[in-house]
Amino acid sequence: MSRLRETACFIVLEGADGSGKSTQVTRLVERLRGSGRTVVETFEPGATALGSRIRAIVLDGPDESVGAASPAAITEALLMAADRAQHVAEVVRPALSRGDWVVSDRFVPSSLIYQGVARGLGVDAVAEVSAWATDGLEPDLIIVLDVADAVADTRRSQSDRLEREGNEFHAAVRAAYRDLARTRGWTVVDANTDAEVVADQVWSIVVEVAGV
Ligand code: TYD
Repeated sequence: MSRLRETACFIVLEGADGSGKSTQVTRLVERLRGSGRTVVETFEPGATALGSRIRAIVLDGPDESVGAASPAAITEALLMAADRAQHVAEVVRPALSRGDWVVSDRFVPSSLIYQGVARGLGVDAVAEVSAWATDGLEPDLIIVLDVADAVADTRRSQSDRLEREGNEFHAAVRAAYRDLARTRGWTVVDANTDAEVVADQVWSIVVEVAGV
């Protein structure tokens, strides 16, 4: 007998760069599929065809050969929101309407943290833009993978413009995740340990929240 509900459920995994989030998304999706659920595995930014073009604009370095500058913080926030609007309209809502489960690697919390706090635009302003982009769609569960500064700094790749920000920026990101998790009811998981242990913790939270 299954311990998970049958109806659609929208789960978001969040965390700083180097938190091991992508591995955990894969593990969770495998386990959900193993339990017989139809699962759409997705991510932000860039999961749609339009979004992948937005992702390139916002995360690739500026094209200095044509005198391009990095996007201003507000531009960055609006591009993330545009990607999200398309993602919700094209992928997330249709999947939930079909009754599928959706697991997304990042969603609104990433914008609140990276653009709202780390870029200093303000959490409330960014939340308002994101709520417009999603037309108010809220995940059933947001899990934040929390990792110590030293661990994240060694795990983090340098593959995009945000990942290449300095250690101070990333420490601010991790601290902001901890703070906002407290006030917004996101569930924090200690991701400093073995990936298997983290996967078990994530699974027990999902069963608790979406269990029947
Ligand atoms: P991602 O592809 O998840 O990178 P990683 O797997 O390394 O975590 O995200 C790319 C970057 O985009 C990451 O540094 C976080 C950033 N980002 C924002 O700044 N705002 C957002 O709203 C989203 C969704 C991502």
